[in-house]
Amino acid sequence: MSAPVEIYEGAIDKGLEGVVACTTGISSIVDATLCFRGYTIEDIAAKSTFEEVIYLLWNDKLPNKDELKQFRKELLAEMTLAPDLVKHLQGLPTQNVHPMAWLRTAVSSLALWDQDSQKLDVENQRRIGKRLVAKMGPLVALFERTRKGQPFVPANPEKSIAWNFLHMLFGKEPDADIVHIFDVCLILHADHELNCSAFSARVTASSLSDIYSDITSAIGTLKGPLHGGANEQVMLMLKKIGSVDAAKKWIENALANKEKVMGFGHRVYKNGDPRAKILRKMSEEITKKIGEPHWYQMSAMIDDTVQREKGLLPNVDFYSATVYYSMGIPTDLFTPIFAVSRVSGWLAHVFEQYGNNRIYRPRGKWVGKQGLKYP
Ligand code: ACO
Repeated sequence: MSAPVEIYEGAIDKGLEGVVACTTGISSIVDATLCFRGYTIEDIAAKSTFEEVIYLLWNDKLPNKDELKQFRKELLAEMTLAPDLVKHLQGLPTQNVHPMAWLRTAVSSLALWDQDSQKLDVENQRRIGKRLVAKMGPLVALFERTRKGQPFVPANPEKSIAWNFLHMLFGKEPDADIVHIFDVCLILHADHELNCSAFSARVTASSLSDIYSDITSAIGTLKGPLHGGANEQVMLMLKKIGSVDAAKKWIENALANKEKVMGFGHRVYKNGDPRAKILRKMSEEITKKIGEPHWYQMSAMIDDTVQREKGLLPNVDFYSATVYYSMGIPTDLFTPIFAVSRVSGWLAHVFEQYGNNRIYRPRGKWVGKQGLKYP
């Protein structure tokens, strides 16, 4: 057999590391500084609400008071799920099903309840965007209540996305401090430059497919444990370790065995993820508040050990795990919650892609057989 013929001579960047695939004005990462539309994540997390951040990501400016009021009104009205849609979704399997698989199907189903799902004019893009970002939390809550055999709790359009999610999930008035912490989590996860799922959404959009398809692609991508699925894996790891005393030895063994430690490392940040620093503080406070500080102490011990032994720093998924756990959120909902937030960024990316489109179509370097005689 002859050697593979070189068809494409371009350099290979496995995982597209270092490849600049598009221009973007949504979020930037420079060293360890993350900005949304030019504002640092630290400022935004301290001063904004999630609804305001969605406006910022989609409009390239912070809203004034009236703009925010109008945007919130239109957005929050979209949280309602139509009774026949709820009935359809309640009929989907929920037992032994990963919530991200259910969410992927649910979001795809939303297109069937939208007569204009295929239209890509700017007005329609924004309409579908509001529909998707507002409904993501209610969908996740519907999943949880359906699998527990509990009735669906309808949305209250007078309240925020964060308040509604906690209310619809637990079926009771949420604690104001917890609503605030959750809102900050939604802000921290809202966008992150050309991450794997945003890229996936943009690739789908680049074929001029519809927005429901773009977001369904992104959910499938976020689900993986190397991306958004890591937060769930972090909590499973902490539960497996069980105690602060066991943490150091466990993690040293894992590193000696060359195991991947979930919630550490990042393709872009080599000097630390600024979101992890904010979440570390939140984890310390909230685990103390619920009287279970050992979850933070274990995490801090693992963090110190992995930094010392491997030089790797925690990413956004590491401390968010104990923050969500402390709110009483089931572990397998951690990644769906990531989607409740990140859908805002995915939408900003697909709007940007439609506005300046060229289909993504890279090449693959041929390493297979060539010139075989068909028998
Ligand atoms: N635990 C142990 N070793 C690690 C880890 C880790 N979490 N992350 C990277 N390394 C090691 C690799 O084994 C590799 O070592 P080697 O050169 O000796 O082979 C080196 O560090 C470089 O790692 P890569 O895998 O090449 O880094 P890459 O940029 O391809 O991947 C990723 C980045 C996927 C985040 C990786 O660090 C990882 O798998 N982390 C764990 C999963 C995780 O937390 N994902 C969430 C990321 S944030 C997000 O997507 C929301």
